[in-house]
Amino acid sequence: MKQPIALPDMLHLRREGTSVVVDLRTDYGPVIVHWGKELHATDEPALRSILTMLRPQHVTGGLDIPPRLALVPTASSGWPGTPGIEGHRANGRSFSLLLTLVDVNQNDSAARLTLEDAETEVLVHVDLEIGAGGVFTQRIAITNVGDTDYQVQTLQATFPVPWESTELLDTTGRHLRERTPQRHAFTFGTHQRESRRGRPGADATLILACGPPGFGFESGQVHGVHVGWSGNHRTSAERVTTGEAFLTGGELYLPGEVTLTPGETLASPTIYASWGNGLDELAHRFHTLWRARPQHPRRPRPITLNTWEAVYFDQDLGRLATLADAASDVGVERFVLDDGWFRGRRDDTSGLGDWDVDATIWPHGLHPLIDHVRARGMEFGLWVEPEMVNLDSDLARAHPDWILRARTTLPASGRNQQLINLANPDASAYIYARLHGLLTEYPIAYLKWDHNRDLVDPGSGAGGSPRLHAHTLAFYRLLDRLRIDHPELEIESCASGGARIDLGVLDRTDRVWVSDNLDPLERLMNQRYTGLLVPPEMLGTHITSPTVHTTGRTVDLSFSASTALIGHLGIEWDLSATDAATRQRIAEWITFAKEIRPLVRNGRLINADNADPSIDVRGVVGTDGREAVFVISQIAMSSTYPTARVRLPGLDAATAYRIETPFAADARGTVLSGRSWVNQTLTATGEELGHLGLRPLVLHPQQSLILRAVADQRRP
Ligand code: DGJ
Repeated sequence: MKQPIALPDMLHLRREGTSVVVDLRTDYGPVIVHWGKELHATDEPALRSILTMLRPQHVTGGLDIPPRLALVPTASSGWPGTPGIEGHRANGRSFSLLLTLVDVNQNDSAARLTLEDAETEVLVHVDLEIGAGGVFTQRIAITNVGDTDYQVQTLQATFPVPWESTELLDTTGRHLRERTPQRHAFTFGTHQRESRRGRPGADATLILACGPPGFGFESGQVHGVHVGWSGNHRTSAERVTTGEAFLTGGELYLPGEVTLTPGETLASPTIYASWGNGLDELAHRFHTLWRARPQHPRRPRPITLNTWEAVYFDQDLGRLATLADAASDVGVERFVLDDGWFRGRRDDTSGLGDWDVDATIWPHGLHPLIDHVRARGMEFGLWVEPEMVNLDSDLARAHPDWILRARTTLPASGRNQQLINLANPDASAYIYARLHGLLTEYPIAYLKWDHNRDLVDPGSGAGGSPRLHAHTLAFYRLLDRLRIDHPELEIESCASGGARIDLGVLDRTDRVWVSDNLDPLERLMNQRYTGLLVPPEMLGTHITSPTVHTTGRTVDLSFSASTALIGHLGIEWDLSATDAATRQRIAEWITFAKEIRPLVRNGRLINADNADPSIDVRGVVGTDGREAVFVISQIAMSSTYPTARVRLPGLDAATAYRIETPFAADARGTVLSGRSWVNQTLTATGEELGHLGLRPLVLHPQQSLILRAVADQRRP
């Protein structure tokens, strides 16, 4: 391929510890030769030599020009692995794609590359950017410049990773157990994770990461990708015998879903890629990027009480007012009325779609409750599930044609509900009007936006075409419009717990509901892996009632509260049924949570790779290294007795910290605690705590110890 002379022959983008180097002079179009650790050479000739040395050799039995992983790999260049773009015109014509670089626009940390295939008549733009935190993002757009329709099958971004990355980590899960980690050997072939549920799903992988064998939170150079999209998508890890290993990510289109008419463009979602020495650094980059956004929630995260597990559908003004009183007594700042407030919604079989306050249980509307909540100094929040409809609703009866379906029969039902086709402008306008009406009539500070079923057969009607892509974009538009019209409004993304967690929806919301499972033992895992991507202040972490509704386990308040601390803390418990002593304890935890929330909001999340799997050590360290909180949780009985050393990584090596154990008395099961160090005033440096560690109290299983480290003085 011939390159226009005026174009540069290489790119070196850099920001916050990350470099991306692109060779623009290859036979295959641009090639990313490096993404990861920042390269400090400013000496271009040296880099040029590297580019030359990285070119593959011609070998026997192969093509004359040996294939190579291009920025947008396509089969026509001889590339034998998964292509970045696939498409064709009618009857499979013009399926071949060979892209040539025609333009480059760049600054220090971003570039737009324009590629074209004049024969196939498509134009491709690839936006490469290293954002805050050193997160590398790619967005690809393909335009049909021909005069017939062009159907796109695949559009995904490709990220080369070090050849030494021979282990993969991703997450799977189910309702009540989202984001369970799994590891695989990263061998030749493709490891592919797809989301085909119309939403990411409880089993979606939040990131797909790779690194050297045994990489952990503290060590091992890891690289990972995430697709910022709330519909179907795909991530994969691939190793090819040509000597290339890479990660990919993109939207997954339903058959025939995207047909570009002449002049039309399809853009991929943003594909986010982070790397680090250990998963904590990878996560910290994502958190830094996210926190740098102008719309990131900045005010202290209000302590929340959600009514769902307290009353379920049994809504009653008197009962909820009593609950609100109890909530405000313990220090709650936001009271959220969950499912069951709207017309005909006495259980989960009816009412979805009829977004008017139910006059039979709320004869004076929501005003009496909201007035009561606000008089107690709390904000009011409301649950909605705007994309859904029950067949037993006035909306479904009036507009059966608004329901997404692909056949004469309706899609398989889920929680007795179907999906509204938001790509239908009338349906979308109706939903917007109802939400806007509620937000205008009532002082609602927060919406808990739920989504309780998978999208099956999301078509435009019987025998119609797929609408998932259009529906997802319409969902984003709806959120965007509401936020513009109600700038103070905060929104939580919830979906049967944590089945819609992705940076597409999170860019338009302020919090995610991590899981319907409030059992701290389960939450420890879920929150750790959700925290790989989502900063802690956006994770809905609630204190459970003593007997967990979804596991039946009985857990202590201190364990539940400790687990909820490093997050956006709330309560999911009928406090009106608790005694004064319990409320006093809850109030103390809430006071502490309020004290440390600036740290949680700005700090760096730490997960120690502790040798004993029965002990979980995590924490958050302030950006200036002056303060930290660690939570040491005993998950099961340890095999050592007393407990072996645990390390507290992430502190400033040279700073001496005073160690406080504010809730040690709450941690039941301490053995001979009178002889432990916890009652003494001790100081140690970050280096000592990070390398030597300490020996925590012996705890009963399902107990936690809070350690607060406060900078004392700097040691010489
Ligand atoms: C599922 C959510 O995850 C729950 O928290 C609750 O809001 C219910 N839906 C209400 O139907």
